[in-house]
Amino acid sequence: MPSIRAAVAALAPFLGLVTLAACSQLGEPAGVVEVGTDAPDVRPTETVPTFAGTIERILQDKCQRCHSEGGIAPFPLESYEDIRGAASLSRAKVVAKEMPPWGAYDDDACKVQHKIKDDLRLTDDELAKLVGWIDNGMPRGDESLRPAPKHYPPVVLEGKTNTLTMAAPYPVLAAGGKDDIQCFPIDPGFVNDTWIGGTNVVPGASQVVHHVIVYVDPKGESAAKAGANQSYPCFGGPDVSNPSLLLAWAPGVPPTNYGDNVGLKIPKGARLVLQVHYHPTNASVADQTKFELRVLADKPDYVAQVLLLGNAKDDQGPIKLLPGPGDPATGPAFVIPANVADHTESMEVTLPETIQGFPLPTLSIAATGTHMHWAGVDMKVEIERKNPTEGQPAKECLVGTPKYDFNWQRGYAYDEPMEKLPTAAAGDKLRFTCKYDNTMGNKHVRKALAEQHIATPTEIHLGEQTLDEMCLGVLVVTRHANLLD
Ligand code: HEC
Repeated sequence: MPSIRAAVAALAPFLGLVTLAACSQLGEPAGVVEVGTDAPDVRPTETVPTFAGTIERILQDKCQRCHSEGGIAPFPLESYEDIRGAASLSRAKVVAKEMPPWGAYDDDACKVQHKIKDDLRLTDDELAKLVGWIDNGMPRGDESLRPAPKHYPPVVLEGKTNTLTMAAPYPVLAAGGKDDIQCFPIDPGFVNDTWIGGTNVVPGASQVVHHVIVYVDPKGESAAKAGANQSYPCFGGPDVSNPSLLLAWAPGVPPTNYGDNVGLKIPKGARLVLQVHYHPTNASVADQTKFELRVLADKPDYVAQVLLLGNAKDDQGPIKLLPGPGDPATGPAFVIPANVADHTESMEVTLPETIQGFPLPTLSIAATGTHMHWAGVDMKVEIERKNPTEGQPAKECLVGTPKYDFNWQRGYAYDEPMEKLPTAAAGDKLRFTCKYDNTMGNKHVRKALAEQHIATPTEIHLGEQTLDEMCLGVLVVTRHANLLD
């Protein structure tokens, strides 16, 4: 046994360097070393990974949620032939950590202290095995070791009470790959303040729905903005007063369930706005995406809120822009120069002692996210606690997205019971650090400029338009309800 462990361990460090090709078993099914005797789900341990014994299970676990017949990815990764045909591109995408799509990796600047729910990442071991197998000529292996096919059931929101559907199908044209970001106002018909304990997005034409952000429009202003297709273009946000956020969804994000005693409030008369990012494919299709809700019967004891913090343009407001490279003599300014590959803007806010006359209660942070536009490449959100308590370190990185991609925005929920969640309290400092690559070397900048018929990068400022930037941290917090709620 030790030799097997050693062989597997030797694979782990990395990757292009793995020289399994030198192995004498090249191209032949590997000897099976260990197969489960009675339990059918025990995985074979192979000295040389084969499709049947190892790789198919990795594809089932980490790829087929999307890469299956009828899934949201453009091709299946189910059969041996599927992965063989897509092998070199898959190798490149997994090594670059662009597949599976997931922005939140640890790096030297940010190590997240809590597990994240429904983590899509390949483990180092899975990555080493997949890459080693491709480099080794993709042995098929012993047919009898293949796992049973895995089917991902359609995701369901448990206890769903309401399904809100876009008013009309929206035509997504196959127009040469131009992305389209549209807002769809929906009237949930709530005549009283309503508490929501769960949310989920069900994409209509899942092959073109790249991400969906659901906003609350408290005054219902979005209704008047809707045009011919019951929608309006809205790159930066829903363009209504005091919007709040309910959910940031991308493919692979499971339904959110806050439990029975935690709820998000939707004020009476509010509209919901679905901001949908369409990424066209070869064929034109119509999309009618749905938003599912679980309405709570009563007001819960705990309130969940999605906070969007950041976007400081200078150091004058409550959220202060910190000094950075290239600031003018007048003080910090949010300006991303053209043709700079690693420009950083950072900002900080100190949580106030009181809010609307009430002492700020301790907040439990249930989920996090980051939001920038096309030039954004890396963002982290950190907390520095004024009075660290047991289990809550003085400094903590809450989320880091060094693989940030506007196309794959989503929230990251901690996999912890409420009492183990990181907290934020009065006097604590939250810091947001955003990194931008404003060069033609950034494929998203290149594409965004091309769509606007602009030849070279230009200076970027804070704003809502495609070529503006943002630096927003998303924090889903829960706290005790108070009289104001
Ligand atoms: C959460 C859904 C999801 C998961 C999980 C996922 N993919 Fe993808 N993949 C996609 C989508 C959607 C695309 C289409 C490209 C795009 O929209 O960015 C894609 C595209 C690709 C491409 C083509 C990229 C290109 O530039 O044309 C490869 C290769 C790929 N995926 C490999 C994998 C592999 C290998 C895994 C598992 C280790 C995996 N993907 C897991 C959704 C997923």
